[in-house]
Amino acid sequence: MKIAMLGTGVVGKNLATKLAQLGHEVKIGSRTKDNKSATQWAKENGSNASAGTFADAASFGEIIFNCTHGANSIEALKMAGEKNLGFARKL
Ligand SMILES: NC(=O)c1ccc[n+]([C@@H]2O[C@H](COP(=O)([O-])OP(=O)(O)OC[C@H]3O[C@@H](n4cnc5c(N)ncnc54)[C@H](OP(=O)(O)O)[C@@H]3O)[C@@H](O)[C@H]2O)c1
Repeated sequence: MKIAMLGTGVVGKNLATKLAQLGHEVKIGSRTKDNKSATQWAKENGSNASAGTFADAASFGEIIFNCTHGANSIEALKMAGEKNLGFARKL
């Protein structure tokens, strides 16, 4: 399954690591394309792991995990893009 992980903190990276190990394709999303923590995570976690912006991840995932702090979640979800979060895009 293709999974979007919005958030490059401890929670996002730990969930992303386990899901990639289980064989899922995981794209971790950040505010910027070249986030060091995210690109490093992708390098260390094999071919199932990739990194991009929140929008890149949200458009990639069949399931989207929001792993950002509540105070920042609205901003992160706006950056992910309404069109990438809609249920209808999966149909
Ligand atoms: N850390 C823990 O041990 C722990 C334990 C239990 C629960 N939690 C909860 O789990 C959630 C995630 O925690 P976390 O520590 O893994 O990550 P976090 O530090 O809460 O979030 C990291 C993510 O938030 C993004 N972000 C920061 N400021 C932003 C802004 N102004 N607008 C949009 N996005 C912003 C960061 O973007 P960039 O990638 O661009 O930096 C990063 O991807 C939180 O609600 C936290 O309270 C955490």
